[in-house]
Amino acid sequence: MNHNIPQHVAIVMDGNGRWAKSRLMPRPFGHKKGVESVRRAVKFCVNNGVRYLTIFAFSSENWKRPKKEVSLLMSLLMKTLKKEALELQEQGVSVQIIGNRLGFSQDLQDTFDTIEQQTKEGSRLHLSIAANYGGRWDITQACQQLAKQVKEGGLEPEAITEKVIANTITSKGVPDPDLFIRTGGEVRISNFLMWQLAYTELYFCDTLWPDFDDKAFSLALQSYADRQRRFGKTGDQLTGDSNA
Ligand code: IPE
Ligand code: IPE
Ligand code: MG
Repeated sequence: MNHNIPQHVAIVMDGNGRWAKSRLMPRPFGHKKGVESVRRAVKFCVNNGVRYLTIFAFSSENWKRPKKEVSLLMSLLMKTLKKEALELQEQGVSVQIIGNRLGFSQDLQDTFDTIEQQTKEGSRLHLSIAANYGGRWDITQACQQLAKQVKEGGLEPEAITEKVIANTITSKGVPDPDLFIRTGGEVRISNFLMWQLAYTELYFCDTLWPDFDDKAFSLALQSYADRQRRFGKTGDQLTGDSNA
């Protein structure tokens, strides 16, 4: 199965809490288990030729969770980034944090800077970790940057093209996702990459994130490989049917 591998996979890693609950364990147990799934998914991408992976680690809406859970998630994020940095570097993974960093403690912001610096030479897989990320926030911050440039006279309003916007949102330089995966059974985007998902193939599965293993990932890639991406054209145009 190495034909038609998506270049960029974006994942909403959902279901940690329910995974723990079904085992009569507290939710943090599910989040800790979820970190193992992240490690496995990164390796899977490296081994299967996926070049870009974007994972939703913490949404701008997740601050609404109980204080205790939020602080557990913060310390898990910090610990994981510190613990995994060297291995990621060795695997050839470059890490980038996308999201509103200003919402995090100075310690965490420093940890983001450190891992980005440490892994910047990685060229096998580009891993974007979305933290305090919201798709609408991303588009809004791009609008603010561009409006400022217009106000200062460096940019004509007519020069704001889709390409300019794509280069102003936080995923600049990263191609749009080819495949979006959401685990955990919910069929929604939850304010993930609102601009970038315009033509992405969507895949939803019931598997809870801690159970998302190589087999589950392969099933998602298989579903992707079986699809015809038409981008507005007809199927016949793509298959070269003479009556098209
Ligand atoms: C996703 O799992 C992880 C984060 C949002 C950080 P959840 O914590 O949302 O798990 P469920 O949806 O409650 O099962
Ligand atoms: C989306 O999951 C965010 C992450 C996976 C980090 P949620 O579990 O927060 O999404 P909703 O609130 O159920 O839509
Ligand atoms: Mg959830």
